[in-house]
Amino acid sequence: MTGQASTEGAASGKVILFGEHAVVYGSPAIAAGLDRGARAVVTRQPSGPSTLRLGDGTVVADASSASDLGRAFSALLEVAPAIPPVHVEARCDLPPGGGLGSSAALAVSIARAAEALARSGETRPEEDAAIEARVLARAAAWERIFHGNPSGIDATAAAQGGIFRFTRAEGARPITPRHDLVLCVGSTGHPSSTRTTVELIASQHAKDPVLVKRSIDAITSIVGNAVLAIEAGDMRALGDLMNMNQLVLSGLFVSTSELEELCALARSAGALGAKLTGGGGGGCVIALVPPSFRSDGTRDEAREAESAARILDAWRGAESHYEGF
Ligand code: MEV
Repeated sequence: MTGQASTEGAASGKVILFGEHAVVYGSPAIAAGLDRGARAVVTRQPSGPSTLRLGDGTVVADASSASDLGRAFSALLEVAPAIPPVHVEARCDLPPGGGLGSSAALAVSIARAAEALARSGETRPEEDAAIEARVLARAAAWERIFHGNPSGIDATAAAQGGIFRFTRAEGARPITPRHDLVLCVGSTGHPSSTRTTVELIASQHAKDPVLVKRSIDAITSIVGNAVLAIEAGDMRALGDLMNMNQLVLSGLFVSTSELEELCALARSAGALGAKLTGGGGGGCVIALVPPSFRSDGTRDEAREAESAARILDAWRGAESHYEGF
């Protein structure tokens, strides 16, 4: 590598609006990027092994270590063309294991910074698509260590943000919402392992494929209707679809009593719908804030902020003092 000695990369966190788990089996899902995410700074090193320091500096991995983090880091760097020795400082403002895509955001930010370092001084616009494809391939190699069988939706959301429909076969197709969606995110405070919940459903699928397929088919139809509702701006229908998606996910045993309580509290506080987001088994829920319009048809953001505050207060006021944003 020649040129700059140090480069930066950034990536978004995400929420899965609909279709988590079913997307692993080839069905569509809908995701949206979050403003929060990860940043990485990659610095050239004279010799290896490459090293990674996360957040407050307590987690350090080197690419030769056998830990999951070390293996994921090494897998990301080794995707061809391999990245020569580097030191990475990365920071993520999403809770780890919260279902908000912290792992994919870290991977994409590191991959972007490493690619920027590798190509420094010679950026040609026609190379951009190939570079982004390599960023996704590096993130997929990282995600396989943590998640086993990732569909790729988390890394895609981390890389591109926005709202999109995703399938394994077709990748992302942007959705244009008629009205902006306002969501509250509530956390159980308990991290969850996507690998564990994906494996839980895989073992149910191995035992009773017909039963699991019924749930996947139900989710596929919910996702199809959700795309239409987002495009038509039908928030009431969208909320109902979130509640239905949550029911199917509960039937697949990836919900928990805390996730159910967060959903119930949000609905009682006025949310149009609520569901877990991401792998489940802990982590976070999303709740749809009812939109408010003035008589001239413009959005009343102040009233929407009050509606969102009612949901956040309901979570914080519960005996378990759930956090939300
Ligand atoms: C995790 O955010 C979403 C899952 O569907 C896993 C995946 O798609 O890789 C549970």
